[in-house]
Formats: sequence, C-alpha cells, structure tokens
Amino acid sequence: MNTAPVLTGEGLVKRFGTTTALAGVDFQVRRAESVAIMGPSGSGKSTLLHCLAGILRPDEGRVSLDGRRIENLGEADRSVLRRTRFGFVFQFGQLLPELPSVENVALPLMLDGVARRTAVARAASWFGPLGLAGLEQRRPGELSGGQAQRVAIARALICEPAVVFADEPTGSLDQTTGAETLRLLTDSTRKQGACLVMVTHDPTVAAACDRVVEVRDGLIRGGGAPLAVPVRAGAGPAGAPRAEVAHGPEPTVAFSAGRVASGSEPVAVRPGHSAPASGPAGAERPQWPVVPATAVPATAVPATTLPAPAPSGHHNEEGARLW
Ligand SMILES: Nc1ncnc2c1ncn2[C@@H]1O[C@H](COP(=O)(O)OP(=O)(O)OP(=O)(O)O)[C@@H](O)[C@H]1O
Ligand SMILES: [Mg+2]
Repeated sequence: MNTAPVLTGEGLVKRFGTTTALAGVDFQVRRAESVAIMGPSGSGKSTLLHCLAGILRPDEGRVSLDGRRIENLGEADRSVLRRTRFGFVFQFGQLLPELPSVENVALPLMLDGVARRTAVARAASWFGPLGLAGLEQRRPGELSGGQAQRVAIARALICEPAVVFADEPTGSLDQTTGAETLRLLTDSTRKQGACLVMVTHDPTVAAACDRVVEVRDGLIRGGGAPLAVPVRAGAGPAGAPRAEVAHGPEPTVAFSAGRVASGSEPVAVRPGHSAPASGPAGAERPQWPVVPATAVPATAVPATTLPAPAPSGHHNEEGARLW
C-alpha cells in the first residue's frame, strides 16, 4: 500500500497518575484499511484508541489526521472533529436511551446543524440495509443487543467519517450476532472508504481486519516499525483475499501495558479465513444507502428538536467524552 496514512500516532505517551498506560506508541492507518488492536486487559488498548480519536490528550507524542495535527487542538475543536470526522462504536451504552433509534442515528447530523427532517430522513435510509427496517421509532431499551449495535454502526457512519473507532463492538453479543454485526461494521466502513480501528479481545474478530496490532507491556520491541502483520492482503474497498497466515517479512507486533511489541508469533489469524465480498453482493447483503455528500440545508436545529446531552457532553461507558 502506498497511500498516505489517514491517521497517525507518533510516540504516544499517556499516564494516569503513576500508571503509564501508553509508553511510546506509533500507529497508523490508511484509507479504507481496518486495524485490530489486541492485548491483555489493562494493556492500554482503549487508551490508545481514545488518544487517536481525540477523546484523550496524550501527555507526549502527536496525532495527525490527513497530515494535520489534532492532539494539540482545544476541547471544542476536538469535539467538532470527533463529531464530523470520526465515528464510534463501543461495547454498549453509547445510544441515548430517551431518543428513538432513528434520532440516535440522526444525532451527529443534527449536532452539526443539519435540519432535523433531513437528518432523520438520511438516518432512516440506513435502517433497511442494516436489517433494522421497522425499528426506527424503538428506543434503545426496546432493541436487542445486536440491533442496538447496528443502530450504533449507522450512527458512526452517517457523517461519512474518515475513521471509525470501535472498542469491543461485539463484546456483549453472542457469537452469531457478533459475527453478523462485525460483518456489517467492516463491510460498511470499507464501502464508505473509511478506516476502521477496532479494539477486540477476540482473535476471530481481529482476523476480519486487514492488520492486527497487539498491545503488550507498553513497549515497542523492534523499534516500532513496521507496526503490524498484514492479515488481509490488498486492503481496500475491493476486499481482496486475505492472507491465511500472518507470517511474513514484517514482525508480528504486540502491545502490552501501552507499547507495541514485536515477536515472531502470528496473531489473530483464523486458518482458512477468507475475505467476505465487499459491499452488497446478494440478497442477504445489505444495500447501502446512497448518502449524498452534497451540502445539506444549513437550517439551524431548533433546540427543542435536539436531545439534551449533559453540558459536559456524551460519554461512553468508560466515562470517555465523545461529544
Ligand atoms: N481514567 C483513568 N484513570 C486512571 N487509570 C486509568 C484510566 N484509564 C485507564 N487507566 C489505566 O491505564 C491502563 C490501561 O487502561 P486501558 O483502559 O487502556 O486498558 P485496556 O487494554 O483497554 O483494557 P481492557 O481490555 O480491560 O479494556 C490500565 O492500567 C488502567 O487501569
Ligand atoms: Mg479497554
């Protein structure tokens, strides 16, 4: 791949008191590429994701989106960035319980100034392709876990983000529902040309990504570059066949307690795994809504049509602020 990275983290250090969660991490992801971040509990995976996504500010190092530094932006600018360039799918707790599903999906658009009617119409166009037809008015508490995650996927993608961040997106789902949710997530991000950065403990889930990076001991063994083993050859929208084994000239990279560590073991590769066809390709494949990138009416959103997020913004289940 010779396309420029979309998102880059360089020398990322993050401390919480005496805990060094990230101790010097380099990371990059290219257009339409998916990268899985694995590693033991407490190794720094979520911290890395939050630093890359502008949720946390690293103590050291830099994060760049399309070559522009973002880690040094103020909170307000990072909030706009998160809303407009990034999408988020977490394990649970990300939907606003008081809003119907369709308004949860429309929320990023409305917060960005899109008229409510337009935003809801665009949001509704995602429900059929994601197998959610008829559930538009259900509140999150009235959805199954898998349905709620599909609503979250729609919400993450509706602003056509450059990068989708997912932290254990299938962690609370059964195997079958998790596999289907994962397929929707990877297919839809790839179809939109967005990058996917996904934290997971599950090697099967990680194997759906183009590359796997493992966090271990907060150290980058082997100098930090290249960062990971390619799992799927030919990353990109075409969904080229995946390599079955991750042995190769590049070292396997492992993360622990905040650093990338390289080793010789292949990671997160499911033998015989092959790439799903990208995008819709049959009756059971969703037909992705055409989301016009054209300007939407700049009608101000009446305050009454917006949910009332806490003044401090919406937070995920770990308390990290999203917007
Ligand atoms: N807000 C915080 N305050 C204090 N310590 C924190 C905070 N967030 C994370 N840590 C610590 O930083 C380290 C890395 O945490 P992180 O949440 O990134 O781990 P993780 O790899 O995502 O773990 P898990 O797989 O359990 O989700 C841990 O030791 C954790 O206790
Ligand atoms: Mg975590």
